[in-house]
Amino acid sequence: MFAKFGKKIAIDLGTANVIIYISGKGIVLDEPAFVALDKRARKVIAVGKEARRMLGRTPADIQIIRPLKDGVIADFEVAEMMLKSFLKRLALNKKIFKPMIMVCIPVGVTGVERRAVLEAAIQVGARKAFLIEEPIAAAIGAGLSIEKPEGNMVIDIGGGTTEIAVLSLGGIVVGESIRVGGDRFDAALVRYIRENYNMIIGESTAEKIKVNIGTALPGFDDTIEIKGRDLMSGLPRNIEIKADETVFAFRELLDGIAQATKRVLEQTPPELSADIMDRGIILTGGGALLKGMAKFISSETEVPVFVSDSPLTCVAEGTGQALIEIDRLADVLDTGSSTFSS
Ligand SMILES: Nc1ncnc2c1ncn2[C@@H]1O[C@H](COP(=O)(O)OP(=O)(O)OP(=O)(O)O)[C@@H](O)[C@H]1O
Ligand SMILES: [Mg+2]
Repeated sequence: MFAKFGKKIAIDLGTANVIIYISGKGIVLDEPAFVALDKRARKVIAVGKEARRMLGRTPADIQIIRPLKDGVIADFEVAEMMLKSFLKRLALNKKIFKPMIMVCIPVGVTGVERRAVLEAAIQVGARKAFLIEEPIAAAIGAGLSIEKPEGNMVIDIGGGTTEIAVLSLGGIVVGESIRVGGDRFDAALVRYIRENYNMIIGESTAEKIKVNIGTALPGFDDTIEIKGRDLMSGLPRNIEIKADETVFAFRELLDGIAQATKRVLEQTPPELSADIMDRGIILTGGGALLKGMAKFISSETEVPVFVSDSPLTCVAEGTGQALIEIDRLADVLDTGSSTFSS
């Protein structure tokens, strides 16, 4: 019905990464959700990769801001500046006449937060804005046929949240969102190294450890050498970390994901449980890439677990797909739309 003409833009406004998808083109932007801001002038100095590179290396008047925290917009003004800057780079702000924009949001965000995201989309130039819940977008992106009366289960482990959902007939039958994601894994490594090595490391170093040798299950013998600052002497120092140490550091967070997954499974109606047992659980989000994650969740739940094809871009692709098929999916999706008016 609405708009057969004009561009459709899907935005995965993630805690860690912003991914932009355009109908007919696919993914056109994939950047970390970081902004470097001139504190006094409140002016953007850099966004994305460039801003992240400055993390921990800025003079006093430049501040590195992550506008999203725990899956939701924590600094609205900066989030909007960031989106505008990305869209400007894509020359989307002028060339396209008022696009349709769909943004993905975590499960269970408040009405106020939903409005805020819709408002942000309108602010950055949308003619009409829609929302989609992250697990639904993840499921579509992973190629699951969510409209059928069949049970599918997805776990999206992002930077800020882990979203666990059982879907059927286009909706979430049982779902939970916990504030456990990649950021908390990084923080756990920072703490572990401080407590066990008397050494301070930065978040980027922690993420490097996680991505290179981090694991959800013991039994790997990879190691990594990292640099930090000694707590006692205050001087730079090198240490070697073993993969098995990361399992120890991640323990509590991994248990949190396992417990939440079990709670969702326990509330799942039996017919849908049977479907999930047959098909398995699909993992998406950057956390799905942690070594041993799928095996860990499978061993905890005794349900087969698979990692989707492109876990980092799955949600953006699913959001794009949902927007392209909005006319057909409008009946099953709660897209909480908002129309540009002025
Ligand atoms: N190979 C890897 N192993 C472990 N973690 C990884 C790997 N690659 C990326 N990650 C982590 O995945 C997280 C980013 O994932 P993703 O882009 O799905 O999050 P997001 O969508 O921005 O966040 P959210 O959905 O919570 O708002 C980061 O914490 C990053 O460190
Ligand atoms: Mg995400």
